[in-house]
Amino acid sequence: MELRKRLLCLPASLSPLVLFLSATVPLAAADPTLTEDSSCNCYLTNGNQSSYFTEHRFFDFRRLSQYAGVPDVIDDAASSPGADPTSAYFTSAEWTSFWMLGSWNNSHGDKRTDATVLMVNSPNNLYIEPSSSSSSNPAAQNQESETHLTLRTQRLATFQTAAEMESASTSFRYLSLRMRARTVGAAGAVTAMFTYRDGPTLAEVQESDLEIRTADPLGLIHYTNQPAYDEGTDEVVPDATRNATMPDGKVWTEWATHRMDWTPGVTAWYVDDVEVARIAFQAPKDESNIILNAWSDGGGWTGNMTRGEAAYLQVQWLEVVYNSTEEGEGRAKNRKRDGGEASGCRAVCSVDQTPQLGKPVMLWNNGAGRVSGAAGVVGWMPIGVVLVMVLVSTGLLG
Ligand SMILES: *[C@@H]1O[C@H](CO)[C@@H](O)[C@H](O)[C@H]1NC(C)=O
Ligand SMILES: *[C@@H]1O[C@H](CO)[C@@H](O)[C@H](O)[C@H]1NC(C)=O
Ligand SMILES: *[C@@H]1O[C@H](CO)[C@@H](O)[C@H](O)[C@H]1NC(C)=O
Ligand SMILES: *[C@@H]1O[C@H](CO)[C@@H](O)[C@H](O)[C@H]1NC(C)=O
Ligand SMILES: *[C@@H]1O[C@H](CO)[C@@H](O)[C@H](O)[C@H]1NC(C)=O
Repeated sequence: MELRKRLLCLPASLSPLVLFLSATVPLAAADPTLTEDSSCNCYLTNGNQSSYFTEHRFFDFRRLSQYAGVPDVIDDAASSPGADPTSAYFTSAEWTSFWMLGSWNNSHGDKRTDATVLMVNSPNNLYIEPSSSSSSNPAAQNQESETHLTLRTQRLATFQTAAEMESASTSFRYLSLRMRARTVGAAGAVTAMFTYRDGPTLAEVQESDLEIRTADPLGLIHYTNQPAYDEGTDEVVPDATRNATMPDGKVWTEWATHRMDWTPGVTAWYVDDVEVARIAFQAPKDESNIILNAWSDGGGWTGNMTRGEAAYLQVQWLEVVYNSTEEGEGRAKNRKRDGGEASGCRAVCSVDQTPQLGKPVMLWNNGAGRVSGAAGVVGWMPIGVVLVMVLVSTGLLG
């Protein structure tokens, strides 16, 4: 009341300013403001399975020229697993705080696979590549970044060299994982992004999968809640898997944003924000890790790659919001919890509505009053505050 009265007797010279503020402040407040992860308790995702997550990581491979270089393939199986990381990026805290480089091979003869070729994962097959150097890539003209991360798999004389990165943590329980990526190269490989939880039997494996077979039509992607076949009967489990087509005639040799939302009871997949598959059947229930790979083992799923040829999963950036069942110290810094679970999501951020990829915006902060809701709900409080500030600064109040 008091404020309104004073507004009515504003000097004429101030009225245009007030009109200007009244008109612009609500619009400004409707755009959530950029913030830091340290100010966010939770991240609310958009999409059909909109969920809250407490953690956020963003890995940006687009401007890493100082680490760029394509290493020669190591054509000796024995020295492949122990190869050095291809640049200091892979020994930086940024990388090692989250990821490990795979070095296992399939020589143990797992009865679950129909592999016909020795496959060896090597740290030498993950590298930062100048985006203009992909000579083997017909889509190379379509550059969006200076550099990207490449996972390479190549068929050599006596084995298939392959690439895998996996999260050090095995404690992810629900997440929204996104990568801007493309797959290029020869037929006979699979590139993949998935969550994984091993089990003593195939039936006990839990896994939500995005897989691209390089022998497939360019728009076809396989989405699966594994296992997709029954070990007992050797039959495919149709409910576990979807063959989906990328939207709008897109192809996986071109950059696209692939997203997988693993939430309680369902996993959903998106390409460039369009939902392309959703599977409730066998949705993983327990803690898992995150894996990306490029591989081939001469089995029925990947097929055989021609000797000397190669295929690549190329990634501009990776982003994940997630919950973890681990109570690690490193993660605790992101949590500003001063109470129990109930007060855990006071400051709610978004990585979807942000104008700056990888950096969150604040949707609202229950501790500090509602800033702006997901649907753009705007309170009058901030405008009142601004007006008071204007009045104070012009000497009308205080
Ligand atoms: C993630 O954890 C937060 C805080 O405990 C919880 O509110 C939220 O529902 C969890 N998200 C999922 C998808 O379970
Ligand atoms: C494959 O892995 C086994 C078990 O870890 C190891 O003993 C063997 O040396 C590896 N072979 C190659 C070619 O890397
Ligand atoms: C899905 O794709 C795979 C491999 O591309 C193919 O073998 C299979 O028949 C397809 N399934 C359906 C239902 O189209
Ligand atoms: C939500 O799911 C429906 C049906 O599965 C789908 O048609 C729609 O496009 C989805 N919405 C979004 C935002 O992806
Ligand atoms: C791959 O090649 C091997 C022979 O080297 C053959 O036994 C196997 O059947 C082939 N796999 C496929 C899927 O064609």
